[in-house]
Amino acid sequence: MADDAYPQEQRDAVYRVIAERRDVRRGFRPDPVPVGVLGRVLAAAHQAPSVGFSQPWDFIVITDRARRERIAALARRHAGEFAADLPGARARAFDRLKIESILDTPVNIVVSCDRTRGGRHTLGRATQPRTAGFSSVLAVANLWLAARAEGLGVGWVSFFDERELAAELRLPPHIEVIAYLCVGYVDSFAAEPELATAGWARRRPVSWAVHAEEFGRRGLPGEEPVDPLADLLAAIAPPDAEAMAAARERQDRMTKPRGSLGALEDTSVRLAGLAGACPPPLPEPACVAVFAADHGVHAQGVSPWPQEVTAQMVANFLAGGAVVNAFAAQVGAEVTVVDVGVAADLEPAAGLLPRKIARGTADFTAGPAMTRDQAVAAVTAGAEIARDLVAAGNRCLVTGDMGIANTTASAALICAFTGADPAEATGRGTGIDAATYAKKIDVVCRGLARHQPDPADPVGVLAALGGFEHAALAGFILGGAALRVPVILDGVIAGAAALAAVALAPDAIAACFAGHRGAEPGHAVTLSYLGLRPLVDLGLRLGEGTGAVLALPLVQSAARALRDVATFDSAGVAEKS
Ligand SMILES: Cc1cc2nc3c(=O)[nH]c(=O)nc-3n(C[C@H](O)[C@H](O)[C@H](O)COP(=O)(O)O)c2cc1C
Repeated sequence: MADDAYPQEQRDAVYRVIAERRDVRRGFRPDPVPVGVLGRVLAAAHQAPSVGFSQPWDFIVITDRARRERIAALARRHAGEFAADLPGARARAFDRLKIESILDTPVNIVVSCDRTRGGRHTLGRATQPRTAGFSSVLAVANLWLAARAEGLGVGWVSFFDERELAAELRLPPHIEVIAYLCVGYVDSFAAEPELATAGWARRRPVSWAVHAEEFGRRGLPGEEPVDPLADLLAAIAPPDAEAMAAARERQDRMTKPRGSLGALEDTSVRLAGLAGACPPPLPEPACVAVFAADHGVHAQGVSPWPQEVTAQMVANFLAGGAVVNAFAAQVGAEVTVVDVGVAADLEPAAGLLPRKIARGTADFTAGPAMTRDQAVAAVTAGAEIARDLVAAGNRCLVTGDMGIANTTASAALICAFTGADPAEATGRGTGIDAATYAKKIDVVCRGLARHQPDPADPVGVLAALGGFEHAALAGFILGGAALRVPVILDGVIAGAAALAAVALAPDAIAACFAGHRGAEPGHAVTLSYLGLRPLVDLGLRLGEGTGAVLALPLVQSAARALRDVATFDSAGVAEKS
């Protein structure tokens, strides 16, 4: 042990205060905070590190009730606007959360930042101006920890329009607000963040956050760097037979004739097996991830649509104007768009996850669509998105896709994985004439002939013939399976990706729920190969995730029925003799 290390007891106290610091919003006592205690906590904040020792913070201590009421009104207005923008299940969950305690606490403290303090040559900040704000955040961290040690709860409120708050506090224009903190004594500190307890978000394991040497090379100190794909596949296990048996048995005791819920009974049993619990958690909130990418094979004239439509539709999804947005709004799901390979530079936008592997694949009739490394990178990106969406509180993942010419790549993948004949697996996509259709089949045949794909090498198949969205969707499915969260599959593109996922990890099928049967013939081939029964069959041939989104309430209803419906014994209903 280093000579300067604290004695064990004191080290324990440091780690304890770090572990037990909580953002507190409930259970504040009205007792005033003695000036001595407040002074100690502010002095601790003032000892924070700062860029170039600039100490850019100020602390504005607010106790006046009338002022706090005006500030609380500002926060409530913004919280209301945020809530109005949330999809169904999220809005209900938000309603149950407490997000500020401005009036419940005797003291509010604003931590500010002066980005100009110290002048032009402030060490470090001259190169990185944003470090000014970081320094003030560190003061908040010190304050938060010292407050915990003093038994004081602290709740950070960020539902403010900065200018409104600055006006209320008479801040000079060069001072910005970093944090609004509500401080007071509390009866107890929760062991876990309220957002975790409420199921809003989950704590990410530390291993997800630590990289060895380079971004993406995961490995905790002292451990071998892990191969993310191998790690992902190793985490996928078969469904829990006991939970499935319990679900089956409960379905038979529910107040309804046996089997009368048809395919939904099987859905509920599969959900229980996946979750390892009967009843399983309700699959909500749900998030649709629309994976968008372009395809080199478009050059072969397999689609009547210009390639630019992929990027244009991404803009439409982000603006909320596509069919998937309408359906998602109807069923209360969130829409996220992932650029895994659009052949255009996309502007940053709320709801867009930039994970571009390359600007579209290469034409698979001329060579591999992508390299093996790119295929692995796309699979890993998809899995990480699944993981992050689950950590953000989603309990159901829904696949979506966008990519002009992606039914051609899908047909090729389906033939490679199932051995289907290209004439049987290739469809008319968005609608093509007989000549284009014949050309499309020929393109698939040429791709297969050129690459001779080996279904025992799923990454090789994806690299030879797939799209970036197929590879990322395969990872998304594997990510859901590893976390035992259901993934509702859309049509033929998701189906082709599921073939790759299941080829990589056969147990991943337990997480797959076929949302619908699309009109593409290859989709029927895929569903029967995977042994999945589609929940909706409406002749849809749009993609985007539309069919899967329509199936979401069915999957949710299946879980809810298993949870909520009375049994013959509990309801005192006589069974059929
Ligand atoms: C920058 C920042 C802003 C925050 N804003 C809010 C907020 O407006 N309302 C709220 O209830 N919690 C807010 N929090 C608290 C977080 O929700 C909380 O820190 C997180 O859930 C983790 O819980 P813990 O602090 O108890 O570990 C904020 C936290 C930070 C760091």
